Amino acid sequence: MKLLSIIGARPQFVKIAPLVRAIDRHNARPGVTKLEHRILHTGQHYDASMSRVFFDELDLPVADFHLGVGSGTHAQQTGAMMIGIERVLEQERPDTTIVYGDTNSTLAGVLAASKLKLRTAHVEAGLRSFDRGMPEEVNRLVADHISDLLLAPTPTAMENLRREGCAERAVSTGDIMYDSVLHYRAQAASTSSVLSRLALEAGGYGVVTLHRAQNTDDPARLKSILRALDDIARDDLPLIFPLHPRTASRLSTLLPNWGGNARLRVVEPLGYLDSLMLLSNARVCLTDSGGLQKEALFVGCPCVTLRSETEWVETLDAQANVLTDGDPARLRAAVAFWKERYPRGGADFTPAAVASFGPGNAAQAILDAIQNISVQESGSPSDAARTSSTGRAELETTGAQ
Ligand code: UD1
Repeated sequence: MKLLSIIGARPQFVKIAPLVRAIDRHNARPGVTKLEHRILHTGQHYDASMSRVFFDELDLPVADFHLGVGSGTHAQQTGAMMIGIERVLEQERPDTTIVYGDTNSTLAGVLAASKLKLRTAHVEAGLRSFDRGMPEEVNRLVADHISDLLLAPTPTAMENLRREGCAERAVSTGDIMYDSVLHYRAQAASTSSVLSRLALEAGGYGVVTLHRAQNTDDPARLKSILRALDDIARDDLPLIFPLHPRTASRLSTLLPNWGGNARLRVVEPLGYLDSLMLLSNARVCLTDSGGLQKEALFVGCPCVTLRSETEWVETLDAQANVLTDGDPARLRAAVAFWKERYPRGGADFTPAAVASFGPGNAAQAILDAIQNISVQESGSPSDAARTSSTGRAELETTGAQ
């Protein structure tokens, strides 16, 4: 069976890593039909700090195909990707094309594959912000409504898919980014030197990340957020701010002389292990990233989200995350709230808080579901159906819920 994964942006490198390991484990088992797995990198992210460091740290194989598409308008970027992806898919004809998350690489992949009538599977299906002004929301809606197999990370994602009439194609798998945190957390603690490099003490700083178009592309909003961060850093807690290239590029035109200061420290984008280590030891995390909201919960770091809504409502239910939008007063209040609640950092989120993200074996559940769907269509029993290593009931991984 041939699988082809399409990735291109930083969070997708984190999502594919557990699946690569699950495929390797499968292929190492005696007597199973081997899975061929090809990886196509669109080149959406191309800086070494946004791409290569993740391939190195996560031990990902070199991509079989690299389109080198780079940046552009949404249409330029998506169109260029589709042209390259179509060429590869026509040559490879995979049994299943796998797309991840909600970026333009996801959209281009799913459109190109479905137009060629190739089977598609969407990892991290069913996420909704209910804000169609977000490019990611449009990408998710398209991916979910045309993919053959929807791999949902949380109960809320399953429910969203059911409400949109997609339940028959949906499978509950748990969250693959949780697999990654469980796998790499100890390695991050033993190998990352980020705390000593930045001269930080555990619990003595906060982490900021900011890259959503709604926060970076409106100059008044971006300036107001930066002012609020400056106030927090000066009065409450020193902040470390790994700067995403999109934000760096907006700042270079908007505030060319701004480079942070001693208490709001701007640093280059971090690799996965440094990022996990920094987050694990932070007093609080301020972010507009979806991935970081979850990772903060998984490692016990209280989170403040600079958006008015989140797709990861489970982080709110777990009382691990507070939404402040870009509002300076709410931001400061949220930081004060977390400082008071966890005076030394290291939040004691309960195991139940993480339970909605599954037990940490999403990659295996995803692989089982992908194998099962192709077998349902070909009519012969799969290795996954014969020896499901997740031990889950077959119904659960065949989309019957
Ligand atoms: C993309 C995703 C977003 C995801 C984010 C993770 C879409 C629509 N958005 O946003 O969902 O959360 O990745 O990082 O796909 N740039 C560089 N070097 C790079 C990559 C980007 O300098 O390696 C700069 C360019 O100026 C580019 C800008 O960042 O124009 C934006 O990059 P792009 O890939 O379009 O979107 P992201 O903001 O990264």
